[in-house]
Amino acid sequence: MIAEQEHATARRRQNGTIIELVDVHKRFGALRVLHGINLKIERGKTHVIIGASGTGKSVLLKHIIGLLKPDEGAVFFQGQRVDRLPDRALTPIRRQFGFLFQLSALFDSMTVGQNVGFPLTQQTRKSRREIDAIVGSKLGMVGLDGLQDKMPAELSGGQKKRVALARAIALDPAVILYDEPTTGLDPIRADVINELILKLQRELGVTGIVVTHDMPSVYKVADRVIMLYEGRVHFEGTCDEIRSSGDEQVRRFIEGRAAAADLSGPTEKE
Ligand SMILES: Nc1ncnc2c1ncn2[C@@H]1O[C@H](COP(=O)(O)OP(=O)(O)OP(=O)(O)O)[C@@H](O)[C@H]1O
Ligand SMILES: [Mg+2]
Repeated sequence: MIAEQEHATARRRQNGTIIELVDVHKRFGALRVLHGINLKIERGKTHVIIGASGTGKSVLLKHIIGLLKPDEGAVFFQGQRVDRLPDRALTPIRRQFGFLFQLSALFDSMTVGQNVGFPLTQQTRKSRREIDAIVGSKLGMVGLDGLQDKMPAELSGGQKKRVALARAIALDPAVILYDEPTTGLDPIRADVINELILKLQRELGVTGIVVTHDMPSVYKVADRVIMLYEGRVHFEGTCDEIRSSGDEQVRRFIEGRAAAADLSGPTEKE
């Protein structure tokens, strides 16, 4: 254990890596999704993951918080190997993550305030008053303080995303995983979410991992861009590097061009 901690400290000093995936493979039956993912996530930076629908972006996020286990390979958090940990040992690690799920489901039968306070009532022993104060401050961060007593059904799509984001930061996570946070929003509301991603990075120092299809979002929030293709990291670099990349797959993706195979292949799920 001590050796492991020393290892962790050494790792942090070395390169500021907070999360590392080493040769991660994952298949579901005959479907091979991840085929040797190697990736380092740097503390305090925002990483954006792009790639075609079904390439395993959500599956990758789930490996990071241990909702899925790799068939081969390893996942490290702060230098500690986490993919083999039992659920009990994962709980304190998961508390350091905020997860904005792809279908950012709020609990429809709870008020906005109860939704945001949910992780606090579940995972802490804080008093009602303390929780109310935290809920107010988190809703304030996303620009929605005062909406505590509304029901989710009364909110717009953009407001729901922001409430889900307030809930994701309730426990002051070190890392926030955003799975398609702007999908389904108009460009203005999408930009509000992008601004919030930047604000949380700036004000809370969080490490961000954002999955998106939206190239304006990529250019706005990304310190590092990672493109998945055929189960591997096909490209990794800055916004400037991806813009000037000559790689055919990268260009097709960022310019939104279909290949002949896309036109003749089976219909996509969306
Ligand atoms: N629990 C699971 N069991 C079986 N198959 C799964 C499971 N989770 C994901 N898959 C399959 O793995 C592939 C990758 O899924 P994933 O959800 O990661 O794609 P994605 O890149 O997030 O796509 P999208 O952009 O549409 O959200 C898909 O073909 C999906 O159907
Ligand atoms: Mg997905």
